[in-house]
Amino acid sequence: HKTERVKVHFIDRDGNKLTANAKIGDNLLDVIIENDIDIDGFGACEGTLACSTCHLIFKQADYDKLPDTPTDEELDMLDLAYGLEDTSRLGCQVIVTKDMKDLEVSVPAAVADARGPV
Ligand code: FES
Repeated sequence: HKTERVKVHFIDRDGNKLTANAKIGDNLLDVIIENDIDIDGFGACEGTLACSTCHLIFKQADYDKLPDTPTDEELDMLDLAYGLEDTSRLGCQVIVTKDMKDLEVSVPAAVADARGPV
């Protein structure tokens, strides 16, 4: 039985559309890593909800369809993200579902690592 996948698209900072084969049940950070999608500085804390560099911006309609609403921890971290929008989420907290077929999400213009400069 092969794992079900859907295509999701990431619009990078230069406006390029990067398409990934997303495994259902993975989060969007896993998808980016697994598909070798090259986004500078993305996912710096490896999904431990400590950095906000995995910030992604959804279209309103897609955002409304997301199965989970962000936890307080995610919202706190999003507050520190660069270019926060009403439809922002942290990629490492969003799980891929079948309904996300051909989802398009945007990578914000810059990253702010909430952990501060190293
Ligand atoms: Fe750091 Fe998502 S990868 S908060």
